[in-house]
Amino acid sequence: MAMSPCPYDLYAPAIDSDPFPIYAWLRDHAPAHWSERDRHWILTRYEDVSWAAQDWETFSSTSGNLVDEIPGRAGATLGSTDPPRHDRLRALAQAAFLKKNIEHLEAPIEEIADAALARITATRTFDFVTEYSSEITITILLRMMGLPAQDPREIRRKVVLSISTDKPARGRNQEQIDAFRWLAQFLEREVGTRRQAPSDDLITRLAEAEIDGERLSDREIIMTSATFVMAGIESLSSFMNLVALNLHDYPEARRRVVAAPSLMLAAVEESLRFNTSAQRFKRTATRDVTLHGQTIRKGDTVILAYGAANRDERKFSSPDIYDISRKPVGHLGFGGGKHFCMGSQMARFVTDVAMRRFLARVPEFRLTVPRDELAWISSSNFRSPVALPFEVT
Ligand code: HEM
Repeated sequence: MAMSPCPYDLYAPAIDSDPFPIYAWLRDHAPAHWSERDRHWILTRYEDVSWAAQDWETFSSTSGNLVDEIPGRAGATLGSTDPPRHDRLRALAQAAFLKKNIEHLEAPIEEIADAALARITATRTFDFVTEYSSEITITILLRMMGLPAQDPREIRRKVVLSISTDKPARGRNQEQIDAFRWLAQFLEREVGTRRQAPSDDLITRLAEAEIDGERLSDREIIMTSATFVMAGIESLSSFMNLVALNLHDYPEARRRVVAAPSLMLAAVEESLRFNTSAQRFKRTATRDVTLHGQTIRKGDTVILAYGAANRDERKFSSPDIYDISRKPVGHLGFGGGKHFCMGSQMARFVTDVAMRRFLARVPEFRLTVPRDELAWISSSNFRSPVALPFEVT
């Protein structure tokens, strides 16, 4: 039987709106696939992606982990360094994620959520993205980092632009690069302020820290802080959007959570497997590796498709079903190995608190546009609807 043509194109709109049939094809027909046009490999099977994420000596991050890397970022952030420097940088930032610092966020989350819900239940039609998830994640993240409050819509616009790609250009355009520059300049001013007047926050900790007797450079402090802003805002608000969409698409699951709110954590965990906001990250091979009869050469770019690995039926039974009763142990929604997401506990906590609060006030809601007309952000790494126009029913 003739094999159907390969449907994979990282810059096709389908990668954003529905990558899962493409991933399934790759897992079955080309588990180590070379894209000649874009000159990268993509790995999609659970076993391969999980192994590559663990083996940082073979699959290095120092050339950057974003598929279309942002100029000036590679080598200066947690996600784009290898051990031993990576481990020291990670140890410095660890304190911000202690359980007590995370639990401290509960009251502020509830306060922001309640204000947003008062508006939502009054108007009854709303955009979940701008009026709920972004409001919460942006305010919380800025507070956690000790950054001054900003207009959440403007920050989201800049952050989404800075993680977006220009599909026809098959990479980043100037507007997207400028959006990241804006964020970097905002952080640069904040680093300058902390040098003058230290405070008890993550930026001061990075500014005062020493690795092997050396202070971090301004570029390292700014790029590392930018990673927190981008991950804390983009990955987290996008993820909350996907949880809301899953609970919309699967009303039985939603009703179970409404009846027993402690099930929200199970819904969050299954969403990380089923539909993570962090779909794909990049590595660079440091040696020749043979996989599925193909040779990945030293220096080749390799994309780890975490979102594809999470739908591999070799690992998870009936993977295309959203089932909050399953325990998706080992999912790669937060990646794996040395670069396993630093904000994983915070992300689970914020989403659990915010979504329980949401369902308590809005147990029934529906999209006001046809499901297949939702617009998706254009990104080679991340996944989120641009807007979720809901109506309280
Ligand atoms: C549900 C929301 C989130 C998802 C799905 C997510 C996902 C991921 C993934 C897949 C990675 C691995 C990247 C790689 O393999 O190169 C990662 C790394 C990272 N994430 Fe998250 N993330 C989320 C939220 C957050 C939050 C809230 C923060 C911080 C405020 C954060 C901070 C980081 C950092 C600093 C790294 C780099 C860790 C390292 O390289 O050692 N993330 N995240």
